[in-house]
Amino acid sequence: MGTTRSALIAALVASAAMLVRPPGLLAAGRWGADYFPNVALTTQDGKVVRFYDDLLKGKAVAVNLVYTRCTASCPLETAKLAQVQRLLGDRVGKDIHFYSISIDPAHDTPAVLKAYAEKFHAGPGWLFLTGNEDDINLVSKKLGSSSLTDLASRDGHQPSLMIGNEPTGEWMRNSAVDNPRFLATTMTNFFGNPKRGGPLKSYAEAPAMPEVGSGGYLFRSRCSACHSVGSGPAVGPDLAGVTARRDRAWLVQYVSEPDRLLDEKDPIAVDLFARYRNVRMPNLRLSPEEVAALLHYIEEKSRSPVSFRNAAMP
Ligand code: HEC
Repeated sequence: MGTTRSALIAALVASAAMLVRPPGLLAAGRWGADYFPNVALTTQDGKVVRFYDDLLKGKAVAVNLVYTRCTASCPLETAKLAQVQRLLGDRVGKDIHFYSISIDPAHDTPAVLKAYAEKFHAGPGWLFLTGNEDDINLVSKKLGSSSLTDLASRDGHQPSLMIGNEPTGEWMRNSAVDNPRFLATTMTNFFGNPKRGGPLKSYAEAPAMPEVGSGGYLFRSRCSACHSVGSGPAVGPDLAGVTARRDRAWLVQYVSEPDRLLDEKDPIAVDLFARYRNVRMPNLRLSPEEVAALLHYIEEKSRSPVSFRNAAMP
């Protein structure tokens, strides 16, 4: 077991995931009750929980920091975590717990967080938490995210996902906007899969996605967590036919800087935002070439709007 685990950890380090536990430190003691603050946080359902006693103690967890007004990477982060949750299936809430902690607690009341969670179809076992700003500061510092999180300029926060196994004291940092399959597999390996004999059922059943050039790659990594082309609306609208429906210059501007169009009260942006409440189309800082490749991909895909999922079914 010991050697398997060290081999696993070596493999994880090699795979560019950053292991936070200092090498050679095997006991859980250092990362237990003495280390993590036991502050009170409130869930999206208004339940008060203790950070260490209720959320960490004895559990395997994935924790990130978010805020619902974020116009940068957090909406993508949340949409990707929702995909990870679907890949992990019913393990979430049973042997892996997801926590998204708001770094904008004054705005993110439990009700705001609940609406946000529903918008992303966050399933059971995933808590959205708010609390006192000082307490949340402390939690993020202890999670090793304080240098990454400047509460004064929240948009600078790095989308990192801390994955921890409290009983063994092992923690690692991943990018929260990584490929959901990679994250799901990483978690499965890191926590161990109780059902021996192969990968997760839902993971194995997930259809292989065809490689479709750079536009397709970009779409899959940056957009598909929220949009489909022809499979119906998701977190955001179905984009089938959008290149025919909308003016080209508008589309380029919208995909590049949706936040600016909304701030400028562009009537289409305002109308879309009203229809897709609670989540904003994020500004993903795409280059003009990336936007062009994406629109080309959406246009091509709209001609044969067969979903990836349907395409892979017999
Ligand atoms: C976190 C979820 C999310 C991600 C990621 C995302 N979008 Fe959106 N998108 C939305 C939402 C929500 C709307 C609806 C408008 C709003 O509420 O801001 C939208 C609207 C749009 C629209 C306007 C649709 C219409 O009917 O006019 C386009 C085009 C679009 N997105 C393209 C993209 C592209 C291209 C990407 C990838 C680079 C992307 N989106 C990534 C959530 C997302």
